[in-house]
This record gives sequence, C-alpha cells and structure tokens, in this order.
Amino acid sequence: MKIKSFIKNSLLVLALVLLAIQFIHPEKNTSGINAQSIEKKFPVNAEISAVLKTACNDCHSNTTVYPWYSKIQPVAWYLSDHVNDGKKHLNFDEFLNYPLYRQYHKLEEIDEMIVEDEMPMTSYTLIHRNAKLTEDQKQMLIQWSKNMRDSMEQWYPADSLISPKKRKS
Ligand code: HEC
Repeated sequence: MKIKSFIKNSLLVLALVLLAIQFIHPEKNTSGINAQSIEKKFPVNAEISAVLKTACNDCHSNTTVYPWYSKIQPVAWYLSDHVNDGKKHLNFDEFLNYPLYRQYHKLEEIDEMIVEDEMPMTSYTLIHRNAKLTEDQKQMLIQWSKNMRDSMEQWYPADSLISPKKRKS
C-alpha cells in the first residue's frame, strides 16, 4: 500500500502549506489618497462616478472594496496581483500626476478598452455581476472619455498631448 500512504502524505503536506499561507496578508489597497484624482480637473458627474465605483475602482483607484473571500489565500494573492497591475496601468486617483500626453493616451485607452469589451475584466464581472456594463453605461463612459480629450485639445498645445518619443523634433 505504498501508493496509498504516498497520497496520504501528499495531502497532509498540501493541507499544511494551505494552512501556513493563510497567515500571509498582502498589503491592502485602501489608502484612499485622492489629491490628484481625475475629478479634480475633469467633470465626473454622479452617474459616471457610480459606474467607475462599481466597475473600475477596485483595480484603478487607491480604494479597493474587498470581498470576504479576499481574506483567503491564495485568493488574496490573485486579487492583489490584479489590483497592483491595474493601478500600474491606470489609477484614477493619481491621474493628475501623469504628464499630459499620458493622461491623453489613457483617455484614448479607456475608450478602446470599452469598445473592445476588455474592461472590466471577465474574471471580475463573473463574480461582480453588477460591474458588467450595460450598453448605455458603455456609451456614457466613451462619451466621457471623448469630452475630456476634446477639453485637453482646447486647453493644451497639440505637441504636449503626444508622447515625447513620437514628437517631431
Ligand atoms: C479586476 C480588476 C480590474 C477592473 C475591475 C478593471 N480593470 Fe482595467 N485593467 C486591469 C488590469 C490588471 C489591467 C492591465 C492589464 C491589461 O491591460 O489587461 C487593466 C488595464 C486597463 C487599461 C489599459 C491601460 C494601459 O495602459 O494599457 C484601461 C484603459 C482600463 N484598464 C480601464 C478600465 C475601466 C474603464 C474599467 C471599468 C469599466 C476597468 N478598467 C476595470 C484590471 C481591472
């Protein structure tokens, strides 16, 4: 019965590892710092704000609302990974820290991600059902992003909205 005891030992090791990792808590994204938030410069009405809150901010702001299962490992690592990656690409609460060309480019990408149905991520909407955008919400966000780009085009010289690498010297 060598195989049986091998399986038994393996399961025991697995259980111990699972138990041990429960004591590791990745840092939570709850600083709430928003001094450079997008809404300090661009209009974000109540409707937009509500959609961002339910569909985007868990991964693109300094305030994640954590579900109960986020306390369980390895789920906590998985969520923490998405939050860190999402924030690195786009953080609405740090938006005004970006150079103008980056702000402009991120606005283009918001449009693109929504048109292509890439955001919010499917792994997220499968569980957060209310984060799945309706057609109206999509149009609202696309228009919002377009309005901000129009404003930027009026406020700033065209050159400042292009990445330095792509500017003609
Ligand atoms: C569950 C986490 C999560 C949610 C919710 C989420 N995103 Fe993302 N988002 C990410 C991650 C991770 C990336 C980076 C990897 C990638 O592009 O797939 C990203 C990338 C992006 C990018 C691309 C930025 C770049 O530099 O390429 C945009 C724009 C974006 N998200 C917008 C949104 C919008 C708008 C919403 C809400 C409608 C949203 N996301 C909801 C996790 C999320």
